[in-house]
Amino acid sequence: MVVNLLQKGEIGLAPMEGVIDALTRDLLTRERGFDWTVTEFVRVVDARLPPRVFYKHCPELEHPPVATPSGVPVHLQLLGSDPVALAANARQALELGAVSVDLNFGCPAKLVNRHDGGASLLRRPERVFRAVSAVHEALEGRIPVTAKIRLGFSDRRLAVACGQAAEAGGAARLVVHGRTRDEGYRPPAHWEWIGRIRERLSIPVVANGDIWTLEDYWKARTLSGCRDVMLGRSALADPWLAPRIRHWLDTGERLPETSWAMRAGVIAEYARRQREALPERVVVSLVKQWLAQMRQASTEANQHFQRLKRIAELDVLLAELAPTPRACALA
Ligand SMILES: Cc1cc2nc3c(=O)[nH]c(=O)nc-3n(C[C@H](O)[C@H](O)[C@H](O)COP(=O)(O)O)c2cc1C
Repeated sequence: MVVNLLQKGEIGLAPMEGVIDALTRDLLTRERGFDWTVTEFVRVVDARLPPRVFYKHCPELEHPPVATPSGVPVHLQLLGSDPVALAANARQALELGAVSVDLNFGCPAKLVNRHDGGASLLRRPERVFRAVSAVHEALEGRIPVTAKIRLGFSDRRLAVACGQAAEAGGAARLVVHGRTRDEGYRPPAHWEWIGRIRERLSIPVVANGDIWTLEDYWKARTLSGCRDVMLGRSALADPWLAPRIRHWLDTGERLPETSWAMRAGVIAEYARRQREALPERVVVSLVKQWLAQMRQASTEANQHFQRLKRIAELDVLLAELAPTPRACALA
């Protein structure tokens, strides 16, 4: 497989329920790096949901174009299994100004799968087809429908069939998280399997899963043959990973490693802005959740996590984060 790494790929910011909201999208897209972002999923059961549900998940809808403040498009994600209900809600999204509708076929949560949503549809590719084609029809070609899958539910036997079903249904792009549902988040992500799907499709296939460093980026592209990638947990662990990849693609140079001061600056701004809307104890726990992601990327961040993890008051936490002026400027 020949992969042209000189071809500048796009980088998507992954949807992460309960973690990546509009504020996080804003913070993570300020430096040039990401080309598009996706909202947390809107859960579709049967009825057409009211506009407020869409605005809650995607406040960017209220200020067209639907993008982060730095202009990176925000795509709206739906999760469900009933094609009629998905179509009705895709239509609602279109009428509210969405720029694209993404369908989630990868959610591993037991509750979601028990209710026949997320990854459970990967056991029956024809159901992936029906969901995508119903949404494609509802959108009348005015905005694209895209899909996000895993490699399967329990095994990879239907991986290619599911990708083909999404394409046949009208998906304009397919993101593949390189693990089955049963593999959860256990490493490794099987990038070469993403390549097997890519080889059989003509729509762009995006490689996702376990791209933590510039080296991983290079390897994931090489093994999958994909031009584009999507970053989830690693974008939180190192908010400068996407800019680092972008800079490397543009110049061939490596940006310096992300310092603690840079990480602390982003988290401090996040905390200050979240406290305008949320109770302090919730903000404290969100900050610790982000710090816990960061500790995976750096021993220095881990040391700070250990130092900060028992602090219960937001003001103390903010003082202890002690961002430097440089970090503030970058945040
Ligand atoms: C806490 C959490 C929430 C997630 N929420 C969503 C979601 O709402 N929609 C979705 O398609 N994927 C969701 N995912 C999966 C990610 O988008 C991504 O596919 C996965 O984390 C693998 O990529 P990564 O290794 O870069 O994190 C979630 C993952 C995590 C860890």
